[in-house]
Amino acid sequence: MSRSVRLVPSAAPAVTAALFLALAPTACSGAGDGGGAGGAVVQGTPGGSGVRDPYFPKAGNGGYDVTHYDLALAYDTGRQHLTGTAALTARATQDLSAFDLDLQGLNVEQVTVEGRRARWTRTGQELTVRPHDGLDRGRTFRVTVRYSGAPETITDADGSEEGWVRTDDGALALGEPTGSMTWFPGSHHPSDKASYDIAVTVPEGLQAVSNGELTSRRTSRGRTTFRWHTAEPMASYVATVAVGRYDISRSTTRDGLPVYVAVDPRRAEASRAVLAGLPGITEWARDTFGPYPFSSTGAIVDRADDIGYALETQNRPVFPDAPDTETLVHEIAHQWYGDSVTPRTWRDMWLNEGFATYAEWLWQEDHGGDTAEEIFTALHRGDYYDSPEYNAAVWAFPPAEPPSAARLSDSPVYERGAMVLHRIRQTVGDDTFRAILRGWAAAHRHGNADTADFTAYVEKKAPGKDFGRIWKDWLYGDGRPDTV
Ligand code: TRP
Ligand code: ZN
Repeated sequence: MSRSVRLVPSAAPAVTAALFLALAPTACSGAGDGGGAGGAVVQGTPGGSGVRDPYFPKAGNGGYDVTHYDLALAYDTGRQHLTGTAALTARATQDLSAFDLDLQGLNVEQVTVEGRRARWTRTGQELTVRPHDGLDRGRTFRVTVRYSGAPETITDADGSEEGWVRTDDGALALGEPTGSMTWFPGSHHPSDKASYDIAVTVPEGLQAVSNGELTSRRTSRGRTTFRWHTAEPMASYVATVAVGRYDISRSTTRDGLPVYVAVDPRRAEASRAVLAGLPGITEWARDTFGPYPFSSTGAIVDRADDIGYALETQNRPVFPDAPDTETLVHEIAHQWYGDSVTPRTWRDMWLNEGFATYAEWLWQEDHGGDTAEEIFTALHRGDYYDSPEYNAAVWAFPPAEPPSAARLSDSPVYERGAMVLHRIRQTVGDDTFRAILRGWAAAHRHGNADTADFTAYVEKKAPGKDFGRIWKDWLYGDGRPDTV
């Protein structure tokens, strides 16, 4: 933790300094070069501390958009200590006197804006940066943050763990919905997507795997640096770093897409058969959902005993254990629905999970298993699962309006979200439905979309059909709707 006596502009009266100190909630702040005496008045107003997400009001930040993250990280697995420099390129969307970054835990050592040291303070997850000079609206600027410490694992509202998760041979970074703020400062909301360069230095003998493509790997003096590049826009919740021992296999799909798979050797045997299906699943998904949105595919299979879920990290989903084929299909489908077409807020998460769940149904239907119609019917009847509670849970709340952050990963978002899609299919027929799946992915490729965008899109693709009851009863209505 850095402390400094120079907390306010040197031009400000001392009384302000005292007041500022009294208000500083964490006594954790830093000073820049102070700006000298008689500095210019900083124009503009502070950017917002969040982007008003209905479930995570502090997630993301107002007043700027990040276009690129350049992260240089070093992880000492023995000390479980992370050292990082994050250089963000961003564009001001208002005249800014100050702006926030999201960062949970860790110690901030230095912040610069446009190469000049900036003052900063911390309150909870908000790292407030006061640049030496104001930033005019429309201006592209660079902010760097030097930081270090033991990154935190966070427990979600639903009790699951995310953030920086230690494994017995390294660590795994999981970011849904808010865990990415435990390992780098940024604008951690799905609406602010950016390209990334992630360099990770680890003890020689270990691997560091991340998103995008590996552009270089260099070892010197007992440490290896892996550089990963992600050119396509990425939401921070699907950014990842996996550090540990992995068997790496590299190949290409038949149409030339690079495949990079990293598997904990202790899970290699159990994963082999399912992972052999990865290129074929990617091709099936491409035939079903349209062109693959990214420049590589793959998977990371680790051993993370306390993590009960897989995550659709961009390019290569993470599995905490050997995956089954359905989960692999689900995470690959998320590359289109979630990673490329990303929810505008966390309320729109059914657009991720409903589609990825429906992808599992379509996969089964296309490969001689139950049809989506059969699965839909069993869920609606209430005998899909053995457990009565599971069958009832589908109707707990409307998919487009989860009651709280704790319920975002519950059955209505997944199964009932998929049932909404099946109701659309029943209304428009198979051909138009498949055109909607592909067209939706194309219309918002590499962007963000919300539920209203989706319902408008469906209505446009099937003029003359009435979706009023589907939206009202299946998407927004309480309880178990009728199918007529
Ligand atoms: N979104 C992940 C998937 O569907 C699952 C997931 C992420 C999850 N975080 C979670 C499930 C927390 C339950 C709790 O692939
Ligand atoms: Zn999912």
